Amino acid sequence: MSSIDSVLKENRLFPPSDDFRVKANVSGMEGYNALCEQANRDYEGFWADLGRELVSWNKPFTKVLNDSNAPFFKWFEDGQLNISYNCLDRHLDARGDKTAIIFEADDGTAEHVSYRQLHARVCQFANGLKLLGVKKGDRVVVYMPHTVEAVVAMQACARIGAIHSVVFGGFSAGALRDRIQDAQAKIVITANEGFRGGKPVPLKATVDEALTLEGSESIEKVVVLRRLENSSAAFNDARDVWWHELVEGQPTQCEPEWVDAEHPLFILYTSGSTGKPKGIQHSTGGYLLGALTTMKWVFDYREGDVYWCTADVGWITGHSYVAYGPLAIGATQVVFEGVPTYPDAGRFWQMIAKHKVTTFYTAPTAIRSLIKLGADLPKQHDLSSLRLLGTVGEPINPEAWIWYHEVVGGGRCPIVDTWWQTETGANMIAPLPGAVATKPGSCTLPIPGIIADIVDEAGAPVEPGKGGFLVVRKPWPSMVRTIWNDPERFKKTYFPEDFNGQLYLAGDSAHFDENGYIWIMGRVDDVLNVSGHRLGTMEIESALVANPLVAEAAVVGKPHEIKGESVCAFVVLKGARPEGDDAKRIAKELREWVAHEIGKIAMPDEIRFGDNLPKTRSGKIMRRLLRDIAKGQEITQDTSTLENPAILDQLAKSAI
Ligand code: WT7
Repeated sequence: MSSIDSVLKENRLFPPSDDFRVKANVSGMEGYNALCEQANRDYEGFWADLGRELVSWNKPFTKVLNDSNAPFFKWFEDGQLNISYNCLDRHLDARGDKTAIIFEADDGTAEHVSYRQLHARVCQFANGLKLLGVKKGDRVVVYMPHTVEAVVAMQACARIGAIHSVVFGGFSAGALRDRIQDAQAKIVITANEGFRGGKPVPLKATVDEALTLEGSESIEKVVVLRRLENSSAAFNDARDVWWHELVEGQPTQCEPEWVDAEHPLFILYTSGSTGKPKGIQHSTGGYLLGALTTMKWVFDYREGDVYWCTADVGWITGHSYVAYGPLAIGATQVVFEGVPTYPDAGRFWQMIAKHKVTTFYTAPTAIRSLIKLGADLPKQHDLSSLRLLGTVGEPINPEAWIWYHEVVGGGRCPIVDTWWQTETGANMIAPLPGAVATKPGSCTLPIPGIIADIVDEAGAPVEPGKGGFLVVRKPWPSMVRTIWNDPERFKKTYFPEDFNGQLYLAGDSAHFDENGYIWIMGRVDDVLNVSGHRLGTMEIESALVANPLVAEAAVVGKPHEIKGESVCAFVVLKGARPEGDDAKRIAKELREWVAHEIGKIAMPDEIRFGDNLPKTRSGKIMRRLLRDIAKGQEITQDTSTLENPAILDQLAKSAI
């Protein structure tokens, strides 16, 4: 086994083994090319065939793509289906007793839930939601620990045609209120507590706080899962309903609500370049098809697999590859409530051995932190069940890739580095593991049927080696349909006039290499990627300036060994610039403030105080200079347009 020191040139190619290739759902480059050619020849026919093959329709579609109101595209619009039927009912005859979910709690206790049991639990909860008056099209906020019930809640909403909006359990009361308000949600589903790393997470208390804030008045009921017997969380008899009481005596059957393919399945908020998160709205039919094709092609799903995606249902990865994709394809999957480092940094490896996981999908940041905490720990566990590994959320550095490949995958498992976004619904650029040879650090080639490209400012294709904007040339089934409440922003953000409204603009920069492989370089907007989580610099700035001490703030990203990027905030106080212990104390206070305003994930790692910020004469903050200062780099860029050049020196010395 080669060691990590012999770090490879990024050009080393890792083709699939003959054994993997022969058994794969898409076998060899012939297989991959044949699919791409099919898509080129008849784009709509390609997706229509897949739609008929993989999705069960209550009423088959006759129309495929409707682009008459572009960029508000419609797919399979006259077809009717229910995604919960596709994830549960259709498996009952052949796989009713097959395990759908192996749930492992934070404390290590495990529970196996069969497809039949999951179906019954979803039906009972769906009946309960109906009892509370939830109807097709109503919005339901899910603020849950990563448990079976989180999946049940989402599936139950889908079953009755309600639109869920999952809010990650790490978000604050204020962030929760913003999402409730924008979606005008009727119900919140939560738990009295969650568990992470041996500690309770006071979810219900945060919901209670959110519901005291202005803007949350649309909420009528709060459903509360009793995750912990003895919790100090309050219970409001007039408004709160216990989950177990709601489902008690409910029938274990619930007729699915057949919805049009375009019926919104969910809204999921994500950060953009303004202070206000965007409600990404997804469809039912096209979204399901995206999840299914990628389960089959990228994760090479086969009967007998034990699939484990470590993402929380609070993110898109947990929607497509926990709540929907694995169930739709009939897989057995692991759902894990806890964190990779508790009780120690061997937790993932121990769980892979225990549950005989075959397909493991996680984030580069987790891999990097586990290397740091125990690069040899995987060797203490039997990881021979693994056959395929995946990564998502950010570029993976070649060293981490090689470690993952050798130490976790035993050198035999292909790694699928999957590029996609909340907006794309499913994997977009990723190697099909039995076909495309991988290269550490590259997400390789687009999935068949996804027409990705890299273009310059004028929309013209760039040459290999030259950076440009990552775009998608044709609409695809699982794409975002609109921004909830803000169709104009949808158009402007994703189909800008700069490209005649014709190209989907991903917001990433990328380049092709000489083999036509795609390398993602980072965001082109004011979005940071901290531990695979997307954060808007403007959101953090707004949170900071909402603090009474703060006059002005500018937030930039700074490269970070484990997190990929960390948050660095430059702050001007209303009073004098603090120094020494004062600076330390106020910085701590402001970090906690941001945690309370948005959530811990947005907490600045570093705060620097200045008398001012570097601005142009027209008053624009020059962020690229701040990025250099944050990195500790000397400023070599042109500063002649700067109003106050002396500030640079002060800020460069402002680390506390
Ligand atoms: C942004 C989307 C979709 C899953 C999780 C993140 C970055 C995502 C990769 C990858 C390099 C990646 C991009 C993208 N990103 N996957 N494999 N290689 N960068 O979803 O929160 O919507 O963020 O994450 O910058 O635009 P998200």
